[in-house]
Amino acid sequence: MGKIIAVANQKGGVGKTTTAINLAAGLSYFNQKVLLVDFDPQGNTTQGVGTPRESIKFSVYNVLMENHSVKEVALKLVHPPLTLIPATIDLAGADLEMADYKVGRERLLKNKLDVIKHEYDYIIIDCPPSLGLLNTNALTAADSVLIPVQCEYYALEGLTQLLSTIRLVQRLFNDKLIIEGLLLTMFDARTKLSVEVQQEVRKYFKERVYRSFIPRNIKLSEAPSRGQSIFEYDVRSEGAKAYAALAKEVLAANTKEV
Ligand SMILES: Nc1ncnc2c1ncn2[C@@H]1O[C@H](COP(=O)(O)OP(=O)(O)O)[C@@H](O)[C@H]1O
Ligand SMILES: [Mg+2]
Repeated sequence: MGKIIAVANQKGGVGKTTTAINLAAGLSYFNQKVLLVDFDPQGNTTQGVGTPRESIKFSVYNVLMENHSVKEVALKLVHPPLTLIPATIDLAGADLEMADYKVGRERLLKNKLDVIKHEYDYIIIDCPPSLGLLNTNALTAADSVLIPVQCEYYALEGLTQLLSTIRLVQRLFNDKLIIEGLLLTMFDARTKLSVEVQQEVRKYFKERVYRSFIPRNIKLSEAPSRGQSIFEYDVRSEGAKAYAALAKEVLAANTKEV
């Protein structure tokens, strides 16, 4: 049975999309069957893996709000070897449309993913930078949530809000939801701030913080413009090493659980 991991943080620019793409790619190169779900109306994940616009006939919007199945919408990629559910700007309207539904609106994504869950080892959801119904849908569908934390001054601010949202979803819609881990991103060893933030986050969240951390690495920011994961763009880069280490850590944690 596949494990559904939501990559979430309501803050924008903390490394959610970079993590969703490169964790999914890393796991797929470790021979895992991976489904990557772009759940952000901005479609950065979809573009970041080089999906040609003309290949997108349907998107996650059609899965969420209409009768389309995951299978009908899924696109098979070769490099990295994974399956993508693309997102387009259509998804921006879903939040409002769902708000009109009286019952079941939080479980729309879960209902669709549950049907194909057994076909994958990992399903990685790239969440939007908000705490609305889209995020609730992702957290309700997920088994666990991976939280990227950017190593900057306001890193911890907002985490409290995210954690209370997670607790609310646990209570109301998904009592099995756990925190997969917190991931320090854009770490810069030359700055005192990065080091301090890392210590602070580790102090509060202890073993829930991954040993692997993601350094600030220019290659990671260049790769999406080529439509490549870091493993195609520059497999020798520090960014590639860091995301490979993260993928290994995620695999090890989940093998132990079984
Ligand atoms: N480790 C990193 N090193 C350098 N740039 C990064 C790194 N992680 C992300 N970026 C860049 O920072 C920006 C925000 O990252 P992104 O993953 O899109 O965040 P989010 O999805 O949370 O909004 C993007 O331009 C991305 O390329
Ligand atoms: Mg993003």
